[in-house]
Amino acid sequence: RLALSRGGPLAGKHVVVSAGGTQEPLDPVRYLSNRSSGKQGFALAQAALDLGARVSLVVGATAAALPTPTGAERTDVESAAQMAEAVLELSRMADVLIMAAAVADFRPRQVQAHKIKKGALPRVELEPTQDILLAVAEQRRQVGRPAVVVGFAAESEKLLENAQDKLERKNLSMIVANDISAPDAGFAVDTNRVLLLLPGGVVEPLPLMTKSEVAEAVLARVVGLLAEGAG
Ligand code: CTP
Ligand code: CA
Repeated sequence: RLALSRGGPLAGKHVVVSAGGTQEPLDPVRYLSNRSSGKQGFALAQAALDLGARVSLVVGATAAALPTPTGAERTDVESAAQMAEAVLELSRMADVLIMAAAVADFRPRQVQAHKIKKGALPRVELEPTQDILLAVAEQRRQVGRPAVVVGFAAESEKLLENAQDKLERKNLSMIVANDISAPDAGFAVDTNRVLLLLPGGVVEPLPLMTKSEVAEAVLARVVGLLAEGAG
């Protein structure tokens, strides 16, 4: 793997991958989060390294401690706001962004300075977080980078319709659509059942695969998109 990283179809390319879930604090000891394991994102980072890329891995919360792929530059973050800052900064100069992270859509409006005591149940008011891919799309219009942006869509219903909508709304080069209602796909398990959606209504269903195999299939597509000069 180390020997391969000196050459390969992504040699000289900088790939940013986000992985894991975000944690949105409520007080010094509590947060809102989600069930992202981080496994698919780490597999994507490894696959990009295997093709010779320079890889930045932005990591939120993962279900278990995952070893950093050898050679990846890792940034750990907690909240959606921290992930947005890291991803936007790294993407500004990158060739590829792959957003595999499960970013919280909302967070507590107020973070209590002190631990909330039991007794009176607090009313937790929420506010929206920033959509990182929308911010990336805006930055990309200005700086022309990254050339390729890949999103993920985890859906429990209307998979194609919802993923297609995100592909367009977030101006993505490709979206990896994931049916999380299937028991062998999505959170916590080692396999994934995904569809790759590209602009123009192109849909490529992949068979049930390990997350490493999904990562390799996604990166193979990324190599093709970079070669086409697509964005
Ligand atoms: N995403 C993001 N910033 C957010 C939320 C999501 O960049 N605040 C990214 C995810 O990393 C993923 C893609 O957007 O690559 C789609 O995420 P998803 O949760 O499926 O879509 P949302 O746009 O958040 O819509 P919803 O949760 O309502 O389906
Ligand atoms: Ca969401």
